[in-house]
This record gives sequence, C-alpha cells and structure tokens, in this order.
Amino acid sequence: MAESLTQSVSDPANAVDPSRRDFIHIAATAAAAGGVVAVAWPLIDQLNPAADTLALATLEYDLSKVALGQEVTISWRKQPVFIRHRTPKEIADARAADHGQLKDPETDAARVKAGKEQWLILLASCTHLGCVPTFGGGDYAGWLCPCHGSVYDTSGRIRKGPAPKNLYVPDYAFLSDTKIKIG
Ligand code: FES
Repeated sequence: MAESLTQSVSDPANAVDPSRRDFIHIAATAAAAGGVVAVAWPLIDQLNPAADTLALATLEYDLSKVALGQEVTISWRKQPVFIRHRTPKEIADARAADHGQLKDPETDAARVKAGKEQWLILLASCTHLGCVPTFGGGDYAGWLCPCHGSVYDTSGRIRKGPAPKNLYVPDYAFLSDTKIKIG
C-alpha cells in the first residue's frame, strides 16, 4: 500500500500540475460563490422596496392648484396631509404668537420653508388620538379637532385642549416655485 502511494505521488504521469490544481480550486470556489449569490439574490432583492412602494413613499404635488386662503387634503403614505396656502394675516397671526404661551414651543419660521411662508404642510392628524381637525374653528383661527376639542393656530401649533404636540410637519422639499415633493 505504502509502495503504491509512493508510486502515484512520484509518478509524473499521475501527478497534478500545481498551477492546474490551483486553477481547479479557484474555479470550484468561484462556482460555489456564484451559487450562493444566485440563491441569495432573490432574497436580497425582496428587501428592496418595490416601485409602487417607492411611489407611495414620496409624493409630488402641484401647489398652483391651491388658491390663496384655501387648503387641500391629500393622501400620502395612506394618511391625510393638509396643504394650506396661508394669507398674510394667517402668517402674521402665527408669528405674533411665536413667543406666547405655547404648549409645544416652536416658531412659525421653523415650521415652513424660508421664503415660502405662505405654504404650510401638515400631517392632518390630531396629536391627541389622531382625528382629522377642521380649519376655521377654535379661538386661534386655525384648526379645531372635533373629537375632544384640541385647538391649533394658523401654524398648526397646539394652543388648547388635550393634544400634547403641534401638528407634525412632514419632510418635504420644493422642486420648483410651485411643486413640492413630500417624503
Ligand atoms: S383626537 Fe383630537 S382632541 Fe382628541
């Protein structure tokens, strides 16, 4: 047995060329890695958001549809969003209250984009229990939540009632003078 081993190792006809052996080893490793990638790719690909999910994640809106003093409610990520085109008086009222008694202190300027103060973008969800407030009610000429009476001012800041926080301002950016992208 020992003799035949010695023979096969020393027999040039049966010996494997070291460079050929390395090639076989690399090729086998590459094939195995390729197999892993082929198996893993569908799993990884599933983690990428689908195109329709991405479309839901961001929303572009043409502001020219909203007249001065008007508001629209749109749906973004299956939740309502207010887009309000504020009048100069609404802006002035909001700014006059910047340093008043605010439950959730925040300046009006921090809630809008500089130079675009007329546009107020808010999640239309009361920060108490999530009802949709209506504009034009309450003591601050802003929004009134019909469920338990929370009152928001013309900046969407909580001024009265059980809601603990201002109406949330979602992430958004101006793509042009009249177009925004939310999300
Ligand atoms: S849900 Fe708005 S006040 Fe309660």
